[in-house]
Amino acid sequence: MTPQDRKPFLYVVVCAAGIATGVSKLITAAQERDWEVGVIATPVAMGGFFDTAAVEAQTGRPIRSAWRSPADPRPFPPPDAVVVAPATFNTVNKWAAGLADTLAVGTLCEAAGLGVPIAVLPCVADALAAHPAYQDSLIRLRGMGVRFGEPYDGMPGEDGGRPEFPWDSALDLLERR
Ligand SMILES: Cc1cc2nc3c(=O)[nH]c(=O)nc-3n(C[C@H](O)[C@H](O)[C@H](O)COP(=O)(O)O)c2cc1C
Repeated sequence: MTPQDRKPFLYVVVCAAGIATGVSKLITAAQERDWEVGVIATPVAMGGFFDTAAVEAQTGRPIRSAWRSPADPRPFPPPDAVVVAPATFNTVNKWAAGLADTLAVGTLCEAAGLGVPIAVLPCVADALAAHPAYQDSLIRLRGMGVRFGEPYDGMPGEDGGRPEFPWDSALDLLERR
């Protein structure tokens, strides 16, 4: 298959938020929109935040979380687009500051520099989102062209249920011109 024949490749970056348990919904939606999907998870997210075996079966690829050895081939093709969902307070702030201490943040820093479209669905409690560093991070990343979904607090409502996390909206953001 030549590069022209292949489906566009989407990196889904998964951070360690409780809502990550539903990330298979995003992968299904992306595959239905004809994206080939590879998942990059933060090291903390790999520690029980989602079903890693199910996601590897769904994408047909190993999840990436650590840097490859120099002699190893690149496991994923270059991204045509990137979705960060859910995005944590921690990863958003590190990305904005350029602190690439995880493969996930390093990949985001590089993708932004390459001009790859990036859509982000934060899952950040209001109390954390009020921190001035987070607000500065949003301004900085938006200034780099990064597209953000609506704020999502992740807290249960008065009925005890959480509002649905808007997984599909990440794909809509990518399609926006
Ligand atoms: C059960 C659980 C749920 C969490 N949910 C969130 C969340 O929704 N948003 C968030 O920003 N951090 C959340 N955290 C905290 C992050 O996991 C923590 O800040 C972590 O260092 C983030 O790492 P990462 O950004 O590299 O994925 C949660 C932690 C736990 C234990």
